[in-house]
Amino acid sequence: MSSQEILDQLAEGMKTLLREPVGSRRVKITDLTPRDGQQCKLATRVSTDDLLPLCAALDRCGFYAVEVWGGATFDVCMRYLKEDPWERLRRIKAVMPNTKLQMLLRGQHIVAYRPYSDKIVCKFVERAVANGITVFRVFEAINDFRNIRVAAKAVKEFGGEAHVEVNYTVSPVHSFEKWMEYAEQLLEFEADWLCLKDATGIIMPFDAYRIIKGIKERAKGKLPVVLHSHDMGGASSMCQLMAILAGVDMTDTVMAPLSFGSAHPATETMVAALKKTPFDTGIDLKLLEEPARITREIKAKYEKYETEYTGVSGEVLTHKIPGGMISNMVAQLKEAGKMELMEAALKEVPNVERDLGYPPLLTPSSQIVGVQAVLNVLVGERYKIVTKETTDYVKGKYGRPPAPVSKELIKKIMGEKEPDYSVRSGELADPGDWDRAASELGPLAKSEEDILLGVLFPMQAKEFLTLREKGDLGQQPS
Ligand code: CO
Repeated sequence: MSSQEILDQLAEGMKTLLREPVGSRRVKITDLTPRDGQQCKLATRVSTDDLLPLCAALDRCGFYAVEVWGGATFDVCMRYLKEDPWERLRRIKAVMPNTKLQMLLRGQHIVAYRPYSDKIVCKFVERAVANGITVFRVFEAINDFRNIRVAAKAVKEFGGEAHVEVNYTVSPVHSFEKWMEYAEQLLEFEADWLCLKDATGIIMPFDAYRIIKGIKERAKGKLPVVLHSHDMGGASSMCQLMAILAGVDMTDTVMAPLSFGSAHPATETMVAALKKTPFDTGIDLKLLEEPARITREIKAKYEKYETEYTGVSGEVLTHKIPGGMISNMVAQLKEAGKMELMEAALKEVPNVERDLGYPPLLTPSSQIVGVQAVLNVLVGERYKIVTKETTDYVKGKYGRPPAPVSKELIKKIMGEKEPDYSVRSGELADPGDWDRAASELGPLAKSEEDILLGVLFPMQAKEFLTLREKGDLGQQPS
């Protein structure tokens, strides 16, 4: 659909749309402040004690759901906050009796960085539901949906809501037809929602309209659609409005003090923008004042975790690299004492992306591409050193790349052999993970939740559970 056709369609639709009653096409809102919002802006460092008043206030607003868990929560809770992520979830659940709690689940990678066996995925989902999660946003970085099938099925089996996601990127192989093909694959999942996710903030308004319209047409009212868009490129609210005009059913937002830039459009902005229109969210702006005030306090307390990569960046529109990935590359170069190579490393990213078959840049593919790009410029020769993760990726351990991997790179890694992408990555996971974690932790593990910590983050879990055993978790500096 050309931009002119979109405008014609909009002009035609507007004639009747503006006569429709207020709220007749109500747009739902999921607020992400306690997870994605603080992950983007404050490096996930906000303690549970500081999150609880915010969660209690958000519970009174009437959101479809609030995202409170998943993503980097586990890693950061244990590594830096010395907190039990399960305990965080139970405490949040206790102060949010009225709202569905949402988590971000990395499909077969759960909340960590490598694929796990189906048994572990199911056990994790079971315990997450039991501890309070209802909505699971399930994704797989490179859109190999075989890697979210088991998780999505487990979510339904244990009584949760499965929201399956397709990750947006811009590349020579990601055409409109490709997005529609992905949407059609996901429609077969019998999920509850379909989510188009732009984790970087590079989707543009007319593309958002085109793709959402196409997905809605294919979904034929069988399941609702949500657009999740970050704002690095500064266009997220325009995209959300265009998606709404294309019929999207829900938008994801963050309370104003932590909104926009690397995060998402502001909750208050979306509620106000849609007021007294057919899309009226039904949310009272007055009710948002309390959570906004608390979010402002949180921002002030944790400001030191904000970086120069949390704002809007014009450059992202050309290099397409998400903020979190840039910060990691900076850290890697600083450690090597070679910050002067930053520009060369950013320029190397598209080469590695191309060689790896244009994976969307999300955890863990963003790390794989970023680390390899930095290594290539540090060593001064492309793929002279190849990381274990790049090797595993090329061999198919993370799934089937969207486009063919460079022949030279395959040859370098596998010699004359060819990678076999017909095997689902869950099948390649180690089936002994659970037993190993259980015996490694011994009496330190008091529950299945503890064992799952050991499966996902062996070293941090042991350290954390040992401190807990000694009664040494104490008050952590924030
Ligand atoms: Co996000």
